[in-house]
Amino acid sequence: MLSNKTIILGITGSIAAYKAAEIASQLIQAGAKVNVIMTKEAIEFISPVTLRAITGRPVVTKMFDLASEFSIEHISLAKAADIVVIAPATANIIAKLAAGIADDMLCCTVLATKAPVLIAPAMETNMYNNPATQDNLSKLKARNFMIIAPATGRLASGKEGPGRLTDITDIIGSIRQVLGRGGDLAGKHILVTAGGTQEPIDPVRYISNRSSGKMGYALAEAARDRGAKVTLITAPTSFPEPVGVDVVKVGTAQEMRQTVENVTPQADALVMAAAVADYRPTKTAKDKIKKGEAGLTLELECTPDILGNVKGNFIKVGFAAESSNLVENAKQKLKQKGLALIVANDITATDSGFGADSNRVTIIDREGKVDSLPLMPKREVADKVLGMVAKLLPKPKSRRPNKL
Ligand code: C5P
Repeated sequence: MLSNKTIILGITGSIAAYKAAEIASQLIQAGAKVNVIMTKEAIEFISPVTLRAITGRPVVTKMFDLASEFSIEHISLAKAADIVVIAPATANIIAKLAAGIADDMLCCTVLATKAPVLIAPAMETNMYNNPATQDNLSKLKARNFMIIAPATGRLASGKEGPGRLTDITDIIGSIRQVLGRGGDLAGKHILVTAGGTQEPIDPVRYISNRSSGKMGYALAEAARDRGAKVTLITAPTSFPEPVGVDVVKVGTAQEMRQTVENVTPQADALVMAAAVADYRPTKTAKDKIKKGEAGLTLELECTPDILGNVKGNFIKVGFAAESSNLVENAKQKLKQKGLALIVANDITATDSGFGADSNRVTIIDREGKVDSLPLMPKREVADKVLGMVAKLLPKPKSRRPNKL
């Protein structure tokens, strides 16, 4: 979705400026065209040559560069941009933008653009917390700039606190979210579940499965990038919360069921990618069960079928991990659970399914149409599924983007 997009990456004079090289690199790898504008302070921290090499494009470092390919640069760059991203943004650039000052190329471009502007502040904690900076950020927010709050952690001063440039994944995620506004899921609320539920045996042991949660997280991010409001209900995974997604963390099948039932009244679609444990211990021991010589027999009961039982005015999409008779079994589940679509995958293949980065799936719809897709990254599978979901949902009269 970043291919064919033109992104202005503004870099200012913060110690975090070196991270801008990674941001540029990831944007380029995702297919974007990146025009870098550096302030004169930024070039003290990182060389324009680095950004020139990464982007394959000229880097703008001053106001009127006669050698530049851009005619009246701030106007032509501003016009061509789909989004302007300033990362890292110092207290100084934030103050200048809030005051509408136009004394360098970056400020002029921001003033001249109609594209959305995203700001990722990075500075010393006291500077960030200073009411002057906070007022300036509030002013920019009120003018529809999107601010990605800095992370808390170790700063260049050696102290700990808020002010670190936030994670690059979050910056890229925010760019995708902003560019995805007005996509085919704009105005829709998509509920996604992910991960394998954990059913406790005692305070330290549980029954679970090998689900990594990757497919569910990919679905949540893909839905966000198509303009949807997204709620992700997730069983424990090793992934950070995707930016721009409402995340609800749950442990057991019962907690997942309760949360799904709470959210579905507001949802347009439920995509159940979670691997819900099929069985749970009938009793959870209060204390840790002592290891004994005699072994241990656990009595198990079925967990509730969340997808099969949840009802309401939304479409249901299920996943089916199968090791035999893939299509027949999936078709049967689609019918039983009242689904609009079922995404079946063959878990006997080692390159797809649980834990893998890619998946080979067959998508079946209510009419019995069977679409067998080749092996592809989970993110691409997610986009295929959501493209079909978008077609099944009623078209909005106008594509009103969700508020950021
Ligand atoms: O019946 P089976 O577990 O194969 O169905 C898989 C689909 O049903 C998945 O979408 C899964 O998230 C969902 N499911 C559920 N509650 C269960 C078991 C599975 O919602 N207890």
